[in-house]
Amino acid sequence: MENDLYRLMRPALAALLLAVVGCGKDQPARFQPPPGAPTGKETLLQPAKLTSVESDRKDALGRPLRVSCESCHSLRETKPMPSRPEELKEFHQGLQFRHGELACTSCHQAEAPRTLHLATGEPLPMTEVVTLCAQCHGPQYRDFKAGAHGGMTGYWDLSRGDRTRNNCVSCHDPHTPKYAGAHPVMPPRDTSAHGEPGPKESRDHE
Ligand code: HEC
Ligand code: HEC
Ligand code: HEC
Ligand code: HEC
Repeated sequence: MENDLYRLMRPALAALLLAVVGCGKDQPARFQPPPGAPTGKETLLQPAKLTSVESDRKDALGRPLRVSCESCHSLRETKPMPSRPEELKEFHQGLQFRHGELACTSCHQAEAPRTLHLATGEPLPMTEVVTLCAQCHGPQYRDFKAGAHGGMTGYWDLSRGDRTRNNCVSCHDPHTPKYAGAHPVMPPRDTSAHGEPGPKESRDHE
């Protein structure tokens, strides 16, 4: 009885064995070596807007000149933080604000407005703004650290080179953080596949 069962199952067993051996043929001959020691370093982008504002003057290349916060604020007496953007009349007029139900002083220190603060009250320099965002947006910060939110330039594999992470405020204005939606547009027309002159740029150079 047992023997009969074995005879019945033999073709199936043989096929299984073949499949297992056959699999090996699809494997690469050699595996890639694991990444080496992470010798590259990671830097965080520091957008200019954390320490300066655009002026209406232009440099020789037509780019707006920037004025550092300190060049005005070191001369001004520190005023307490306003509670609404409309209270800014001498400068920074037209600031838009739409960020949940936050108060200006949820982020800016009331008596030292160019410095941020954590929920504990601990002061935080402007250049450490990511720590501020992280305390209220844990899931995005977790994803950011894992490389799944926010993007980067450089190398994933730090043994091959350095990488630069974008700052939260590279993409999100802290006052109006909603990421502006984008409208889908027609894809570029690739005529080269049909033996016609290539894309538009070849005509632009005429
Ligand atoms: C060209 C000069 C100038 C520059 C540059 C400037 N500010 Fe101001 N800032 C002002 C003036 C003037 C006011 C007062 C506006 C009012 O109360 O009507 C002000 C007000 C403020 C306030 C409100 C609290 C206070 O002290 O009155 C904050 C916060 C602030 N500035 C932050 C900044 C930051 C951050 C930067 C750089 C990113 C910056 N400012 C750059 C001139 C400047
Ligand atoms: C979520 C945190 C946060 C809140 C809330 C917030 N700010 Fe800011 N603010 C920042 C950061 C970060 C900067 C520097 C970077 C930048 O300007 O984008 C800044 C810069 C500024 C500046 C100077 C540069 C600029 O953008 O014009 C002014 C003025 C200012 N804030 C006023 C206000 C006022 C008024 C409110 C309340 C209506 C407010 N902020 C609420 C984080 C915040
Ligand atoms: C004190 C807590 C707090 C801090 C600090 C804070 N946020 Fe927020 N943020 C909120 C709340 C509350 C909302 C609104 C959530 C809602 O409406 O569902 C929000 C909404 C957002 C949104 C979604 C906006 C939309 O309309 O879809 C983005 C993006 C965002 N925050 C980014 C940031 C960034 C970047 C920073 C750092 C500069 C920051 N937040 C700092 C509390 C905070
Ligand atoms: C490269 C640009 C970029 C950077 C850098 C970036 N984000 Fe975003 N973030 C986005 C985009 C795009 C969306 C909108 C996704 C969507 O609408 O589905 C978004 C959405 C969000 C939202 C709203 C999520 C929701 O469900 O409404 C929050 C909160 C947020 N980001 C926080 C952060 C924080 C905190 C950082 C820094 C640690 C950060 N982001 C860095 C591009 C960025």
